[in-house]
Amino acid sequence: MIKVKVPATTANMGPGFDSIGMALTMYNIVYAEKIDKGLEIIIQDGNASIPTDENNLIYKTICYFYDNIDQKVPGIRLIQQDSIPHTRGLGSSAACIVAGLHIANAMSQSFFSKEELVQMAAQIEGHPDNTTPALLGGMTIGAMNEKDMKYVKIKVPDTLHFAVMIPDFTLSTELAREALPKKVSLQDAVFNASRAALLATSMMTGDMDNLAIATEDRLHQPYRASLIPNMENILEKAKSYGAKGTFLSGAGPTLLAVIKNVVDFRREMVTYLDTLEHKWQVQMLQADNEGAKVWINEELRY
Ligand code: HSE
Repeated sequence: MIKVKVPATTANMGPGFDSIGMALTMYNIVYAEKIDKGLEIIIQDGNASIPTDENNLIYKTICYFYDNIDQKVPGIRLIQQDSIPHTRGLGSSAACIVAGLHIANAMSQSFFSKEELVQMAAQIEGHPDNTTPALLGGMTIGAMNEKDMKYVKIKVPDTLHFAVMIPDFTLSTELAREALPKKVSLQDAVFNASRAALLATSMMTGDMDNLAIATEDRLHQPYRASLIPNMENILEKAKSYGAKGTFLSGAGPTLLAVIKNVVDFRREMVTYLDTLEHKWQVQMLQADNEGAKVWINEELRY
């Protein structure tokens, strides 16, 4: 039996559009084993929106992997225990891709290295900001070219907590990307480049007071705000309750606040969110600095 545990991820972190991402302490767990033939998928939380046929993203990734190594896909049973909410900007698709690659790698005894899986995952997803931290943990900064992806992983300090505000509505990445302009001004490009660099370096040096500016964005958040009721108000409130930085998680609609005082922030934020039209759930998480883990017959392999 193969067991894979994959963290949720928050992409962009404000200015790092399609490049920066961070793993969070929220996980999907998948069990996989070979069966005589066919495909059996059991969804343990009963989430009816997850496909249990060939359209299942974990299974599609397994097929992609087997195709690439020129082998026939064996009969497979998958058991999914999902905690990462779907279509909420917390990397649930990336988690499926990472789980699929790890399962196929172990099942086919291909022994591709983690580094090779990082490259494959970035190619499948098309941008590395969810898959790289999901595989490696921490905060990662990635840049792709035609051949491969170069990245740096930064360990996120344990003193940082992340208030993750998840609404009761979904937003598809496709729709959230359609809202973006085809061109941006030089001013906005400079605004983001400076903040993305400040965010990465501040996380390395521990200059957390920079985060208020370092998490600002002009490339995607302003265009996506109209798709997320009360986004600007919630981010402003979070700042007034002491958040060190705030941003839209991935393509949204989940919002994140970087905080230090967990108890006070949570109380004030929940009280405010309860006044809004939509229901918002607040989860207090930290960064996962280890990334996806794989067990084969209960023995930890990575
Ligand atoms: N960087 C991506 C976006 C993350 O913001 O569209 C979602 O896949």
